[in-house]
Amino acid sequence: MAFLSSLFKKESSVLGIDIGSSAIKVVQIKKKRGRAVLETYGELSLGPYAGVEVGRSVSLQPDKLVAALKDILRESKTTTTSCGAALPLSASLITFISIPPVPDKQVGDVVNIEARKYIPVPLSEVLLDYSIIPKEDSYAGEGNAAEKQAKDVLVVAIHNDFINQYQSVMSGSGLQPSFYEIEIFSSIRAVVDQGVATVMVLDMGARTTKIYIIEHGMLRSSHIISKGSQDITLALSKALSITVAEAETLKRTSGLKGGPEYKELSEIITVNLDYIFYEANAALLNYQKKYSKNVSKIILTGGGVLLRGFTDLAKISFQTDVIYADPFGKLETPAFLANEFAEAGPEFAVAIGAALRRLSELE
Ligand SMILES: Nc1ncnc2c1ncn2[C@@H]1O[C@H](COP(=O)(O)OP(=O)(O)OP(=O)(O)O)[C@@H](O)[C@H]1O
Ligand SMILES: [Mg+2]
Repeated sequence: MAFLSSLFKKESSVLGIDIGSSAIKVVQIKKKRGRAVLETYGELSLGPYAGVEVGRSVSLQPDKLVAALKDILRESKTTTTSCGAALPLSASLITFISIPPVPDKQVGDVVNIEARKYIPVPLSEVLLDYSIIPKEDSYAGEGNAAEKQAKDVLVVAIHNDFINQYQSVMSGSGLQPSFYEIEIFSSIRAVVDQGVATVMVLDMGARTTKIYIIEHGMLRSSHIISKGSQDITLALSKALSITVAEAETLKRTSGLKGGPEYKELSEIITVNLDYIFYEANAALLNYQKKYSKNVSKIILTGGGVLLRGFTDLAKISFQTDVIYADPFGKLETPAFLANEFAEAGPEFAVAIGAALRRLSELE
């Protein structure tokens, strides 16, 4: 009687929490008639908590983070403490290793031994997680029989100290996360449809730009580019002799569509984006060559991609299909706000993905 029991199941709301380097995003959803329904969402810039401008990345002390988190929960009128939380990619070490073809239940032991070669601290200091990459997605390039029989495994390590610090921020804010996961995995759930195609997600945040290559919904490669959207703001401020706050506003309002009087503006922005696209392209071409796979689409996430004219430039640079992530499309949302959700989508990919996992835990 699964149908009846689900009819009478209490409706429970859950939160997804994404603490980025420049802003916190929260999303609250609940399950109704088998659909994930959006209840509330919100975003808060962290710059002001460190005495700097909106849009800048900061490293906040735990007490300041707790204050910010409490503020955004209150402002968004969230009504639950049950949540899933995303951890920054920069806090983790991700490696792809090849191990001999042992039975699946022995993989954990082998990974523990092999991981020592890649992880620069004692394994007792990290939380280690792994998943086996399904064979058909696995090494498809050239190689001898032994290489083809080997198991490819994705290994993720996060330092215990980092998790402990996050835990104290969460509990200090009254939140009860049932899991922590690296932001990549939240994003994948929210923006990549399970399919055969190989896609790349490009997440342009404030401090860095992260790129992930995904096949069959499985992470196959990740890369951090050390330039983000705040670099554009800082370059504009310097070159045009305006304050950082003015530069941030100019970036957000004009972007690459400022008209001829902003020739200088678009040149400065383009130089910064070209660097990022060059690096991303190099990683993409390298992957395509190594695995003889074609990346069919680039999905844009993160606040930085909201820059006006971003997709046009990206399409020219990548010579492939480039689209905005639409994580709100995974949720039931009020139709009259469709435009707002389409615009906010890229920024909320991580928070929505974390919320979706928390919701699926209740099933
Ligand atoms: N409309 C816009 N046009 C251009 N840039 C924007 C716009 N809105 C936000 N940004 C920029 O996006 C950045 C924030 O993006 P996001 O919230 O994804 O970063 P984050 O998650 O805090 O950072 P990270 O992922 O690096 O930790 C800021 O630098 C901000 O200036
Ligand atoms: Mg982010």
